[in-house]
Amino acid sequence: MTQKILLTGGAGYIGSHTYVALKAAGYDVVILDNFSNAHHDVIDRLEVITGAPVPVYEGDVLDPAILRKIFTEHEIAGAVHFAAKKAVGESTEIPLDYIETNVSGLVTLLKEMRAAGVFRIVFSSSATVYGEADVVPTPEDSPRSYSSPYAFTKLASEQILEQVAAADDRWAIGILRYFNPAGAHPTGLIGEDPDGIPNNLMPYIAKVAMGDLERLSVFGDDYPTPDGTGVRDYIHVEDLARGHVLSIDALTQTGDSHTVNLGTGQGYSVFDMLKSYERACGQDLAFTVTPRRAGDVPYYIANPDKAKDVLGFAAEMGLDDMCASSWNWISRRKNS
Ligand code: UFG
Repeated sequence: MTQKILLTGGAGYIGSHTYVALKAAGYDVVILDNFSNAHHDVIDRLEVITGAPVPVYEGDVLDPAILRKIFTEHEIAGAVHFAAKKAVGESTEIPLDYIETNVSGLVTLLKEMRAAGVFRIVFSSSATVYGEADVVPTPEDSPRSYSSPYAFTKLASEQILEQVAAADDRWAIGILRYFNPAGAHPTGLIGEDPDGIPNNLMPYIAKVAMGDLERLSVFGDDYPTPDGTGVRDYIHVEDLARGHVLSIDALTQTGDSHTVNLGTGQGYSVFDMLKSYERACGQDLAFTVTPRRAGDVPYYIANPDKAKDVLGFAAEMGLDDMCASSWNWISRRKNS
């Protein structure tokens, strides 16, 4: 029988790509999203990509009533929980909002899942739980810490899930620690589209390429890295989406919980990204080197071995794929 998966935050950047990947893998999927950080036209676009209506509930993961309605109206086999706030800087200004949405939202979902007899969940965590990792590439058993309210909510959520799994062995939980998601769907119909001035590197470069922003600020070129700029493990959102399908598959097949990194194990600098994007958009992009951004670390790279062992996951796409697909998405979106 086809299994049905609830995707909270399914209209967002990673959620929408995961919707497509789950459908392609033969799952039925229901979306819950409050559209606080997603456009409604994402749903129309998902219908174009998948060629079928998209079941969607507009509501909040903090609202038990809408969760109950979904679990009553659908036979849900498991959940992939994306719905969360994710801007590190904003989290330092409104920590309670982050704790409410990210931590209370998870608890609300878990309680409604338990009430409905659904015990399989994949959780969106982040490499941010490693804090300033001593070991890079970073394995999953590295010490965890936090240096922002956002990171605190991800660490607290992981710990809540661990307590829940330890107390009741019906739970099968997949904790996925994302490194730096980038890129867009090859159709150019869905991708990352932050309002205002982006915090993250790729969406910022995309806006420079579009002419919406004048130049990239390169936050420091005096790090102990090959070209002096920060190095990150960028992972194509299509690879990331596939990781969620493999996680759900593994929970179903084994009934065992897992915690894995989703990264490539390969690092790229800010200048690597800028040059790759220049190739993608066919123009030189202006930049200025500015002082380091507070809280940034020189290197952040996944050790991808456990994801390979436990899920059979290995990223397939590289930086040029990420930049080309981002440019395809962003230039089409502007013209559509
Ligand atoms: N950078 C610039 N200029 C910019 C933006 C970024 O030079 O305008 C640099 C940063 O200094 C860093 C690299 O580009 O070296 C990547 O920065 P991002 O902001 O894109 O990503 P981060 O690695 O800082 O943060 C990401 C997520 C966080 C998460 C963190 C650790 O955005 O949510 O990884 O997992 F907490």
